[in-house]
Amino acid sequence: MLNVSSKLLLRAAVAAAGVAAAVSVQAQGAAKASAPTPAPAAVVGNADAGAKKNSMCIGCHGIPDYKTAFPTVYRVPKISGQSEKYIASALNAYKTGERNHPSMVGISRGLSDQDMADLAAYYANKK
Ligand code: HEC
Repeated sequence: MLNVSSKLLLRAAVAAAGVAAAVSVQAQGAAKASAPTPAPAAVVGNADAGAKKNSMCIGCHGIPDYKTAFPTVYRVPKISGQSEKYIASALNAYKTGERNHPSMVGISRGLSDQDMADLAAYYANKK
């Protein structure tokens, strides 16, 4: 948890960034008349949506201490209750190839950023 003073600091930083952005937008507007491209909205995970997307995960992650025998015998990690950020970034790492477990790479390639965020929200809130 953030304490009060770091919250205030954070707010000040956010406000300062907002002012800086507004100034640079004005400067850009003066330079060329076109509107700046809006930054993409951050993807927000929805646990209810994630609950409808986990059918392809439960076969492995739904069983406590489950082990699969392909490609070699390995332990399937428990993902329920891990941090939402951690789950989303792990999924993304499989998708980009930064992590290279064959099953998870295959699965994550089929997931959009929104799917990953929803699944992360779902598993983070699941006991
Ligand atoms: C075929 C079995 C299988 C399926 C299906 C599967 N996983 Fe996995 N998953 C694994 C294994 C095995 C690992 C550990 C891989 C490794 O060591 O990198 C893993 C790792 C993960 C991790 C990283 C966990 C950690 O502690 O670092 C996440 C997050 C994850 N899976 C999410 C999912 C989600 C979400 C789905 C469904 C979309 C899914 N998995 C489907 C087997 C599976």
